[in-house]
Amino acid sequence: MRTPIVAGNWKMFKTIAEASDFSANVSKAAPIAGVEQVICAPFTTLPALSELFKGTSIALGAQNMHYAENGAFTGEISPLMLKELGVKYVIIGHSERRQYFNETDETVNLKSKAALQHGLLPIICVGETLAEREAGKTEEVVRVQTEAAFAGISADQAKTVVVAYEPVWAIGTGKSSSSAEANETIRYIRQVIASLYGQETADQVRIQYGGSVKPDNIASYLQESDIDGALVGGASLTADGFLQLVAGASGK
Ligand code: PGA
Repeated sequence: MRTPIVAGNWKMFKTIAEASDFSANVSKAAPIAGVEQVICAPFTTLPALSELFKGTSIALGAQNMHYAENGAFTGEISPLMLKELGVKYVIIGHSERRQYFNETDETVNLKSKAALQHGLLPIICVGETLAEREAGKTEEVVRVQTEAAFAGISADQAKTVVVAYEPVWAIGTGKSSSSAEANETIRYIRQVIASLYGQETADQVRIQYGGSVKPDNIASYLQESDIDGALVGGASLTADGFLQLVAGASGK
């Protein structure tokens, strides 16, 4: 039994004041059981949110990190720094980082291993571009990305990893993948994980769908056999939106 997980990815949105408002509004609502809830916030808001989310059902996540514990890496943040703030999850290899910040399958692997070594749970993003999809390469792309990301990760560690399947063409575009198609690709990703670790381990790995998930379509994804949650950008920015997403996932 995999507990559904809804993670908000705030990207480069929200000052500390805005993040505090979000927290105050979410705290007023009645808690929703049965869904793990995560907000992946900008680095600058993490110290405040770490305090504000204490005693709530929201776990804190970051959106990136370096793989080294420390070093001469100007502008980077290390796993130790995230741990110190009570961060639980960290998004690794989001397509925006792959596209704009030179993230590669190799750095995704290094970062995922480093996160696990430091007790952080990676949310590893995979997904094809529109051109790759149109060329019929979706499965090949997600297989290569998944195999590379998990290289050198033990089966015990792998069980704790969250994978987010995010077709690049669906992110921030309002064009979401159909739930049936997303489920098919996610089942395929689970098969890839099974080929690495065996079915028992693969059955424990949670795989989210991401890309234009909204309060009014999240339930259709979550009702699919292999979709265990959602990674949500735009629709997670308001407290109301986030709460509706969690409520929509709670029927699973
Ligand atoms: P979106 O972003 O929900 O705004 O499409 C998803 C993501 O980038 O994780």
